[in-house]
Amino acid sequence: MNPQISARRLARELGEWRSHRSAYLALADRVRVMLIDGRLASGSRLPAERELSAALQVSRTTVAAAYAQLREERYLSSVRGSGSTLALPDGQRGVVPLPQELDLDFTKAASAAYSGLPAAYQYAVEQLPNYLSHQGFDMQGLPELRAAVADHYSDRGLATTPDQVLITLGAQHALSLLTQTIYSPGERILIEHPTYPHAIDTFMAAGARLLAMPVTAEGGWDIAEGQMLIRRSAPSMGYLMPDFQNPTGASMGVEDRERLARLAAREGTTLVVDETTAHLDIERGALPPMAVFSNRIVTIGSLGKLAWGGLRIGWIRGSKDLLARALRNRPAMDLGTPLVEQLASIYLLRETELMAANRSRELRAGRDFLVTELHKHFPQWDVQIPNGGMSLWINTETLSSSALALSARAEGLALVPGPRFGLEGAFERFLRLPFTYRREELSEGVQALLRASRSVGATPSRMPLQAVI
Ligand SMILES: Cc1ncc(COP(=O)(O)O)c(C=O)c1O
Repeated sequence: MNPQISARRLARELGEWRSHRSAYLALADRVRVMLIDGRLASGSRLPAERELSAALQVSRTTVAAAYAQLREERYLSSVRGSGSTLALPDGQRGVVPLPQELDLDFTKAASAAYSGLPAAYQYAVEQLPNYLSHQGFDMQGLPELRAAVADHYSDRGLATTPDQVLITLGAQHALSLLTQTIYSPGERILIEHPTYPHAIDTFMAAGARLLAMPVTAEGGWDIAEGQMLIRRSAPSMGYLMPDFQNPTGASMGVEDRERLARLAAREGTTLVVDETTAHLDIERGALPPMAVFSNRIVTIGSLGKLAWGGLRIGWIRGSKDLLARALRNRPAMDLGTPLVEQLASIYLLRETELMAANRSRELRAGRDFLVTELHKHFPQWDVQIPNGGMSLWINTETLSSSALALSARAEGLALVPGPRFGLEGAFERFLRLPFTYRREELSEGVQALLRASRSVGATPSRMPLQAVI
């Protein structure tokens, strides 16, 4: 039997779903965009019409018409007696692939490959004969690569030995493996809010109850709230991105790193620090890795943003005991990391400084260009300018980003709506715009965004939201 979404949960997750369209179309639109961007899973069952109409305080006719609309568009199939099941047209599963006609995919904040990549693969192919005499299943990572990752931390002031490093298939894999290793059902996980969407997916799939510590592009972390959540709710795990947080671009101050690290260690919360974005500095300068403040911190990293996403090489840096437990869990997921990519990564890590300098230049150019375009075309938006990272996190104040994402698709632009970065429909007025694209693409993207914002009907204005009293 497919999982049932309760009416209460759906009502919460829908957030501010109403738009200028009639209520049934607005409701159908919102369910569709949530299915497309992965907030609702294909195969799950929607609540009965009567229950949803009560939870949303709309007429049953509205819900019935919304369901009928979704059925007509083939996003819903209803079988008498077993309810209405969400489905992607043509039997697709998971997040919808981009239709051919969409020219611009702004759903990914990631850059094209580092120019030294072909040389790294050349080196890997030259080295490969030395490795062909063993069977090639490498669960822990090549000793030479683990040594290179360890040096990468030691150079940043965090003394590390190769046996404190486990090589993974990217940081996402590292996070899944750690969640399986650290977290047990029923426990809580502290997250930043907003956060990286696939971390939410991983934690939700594990059945975790999530505690949200607010982060904003302008003010950074609400550390007091984070401390209170750790003290009061004793999460077993916390997930943080102190450097150029995705999506806000914020960086955590050194004192706050130390304060949170020490508190978490005292209270028994294992902090997983994701450094995937840590080298994407434009003009901030180096800060110490959070793990220097506590040896209970587990760090994950990746070459995905610095070198190339297609490399699929990441790692976990943690205690030997934790890594041994992670290794025991690994075979259920995969049977090791490809050797050619590991060899290429040994070469690439020697060029860390060069890669970071190149990225810094590209990111600065992309950021400054996108900010200028937005000032020109959306002067009413108060755009916070991050000093690193890959994206702008914009409070549009009045525009629904789910509605905008839908109409942007019609304009050939794929966007991720703000609520994908949060829980229960939060961030509906926020938009993440990556600046990792070429000028022409950024410029075309802003034009598409402008057309889309006109067709969603809301005139962008600086009017703050009014409290309803
Ligand atoms: C914060 C963060 N963590 C992890 C990942 C996934 O990294 P990888 O490609 O190494 O799996 C990403 C990629 O977007 C990311 O932004």
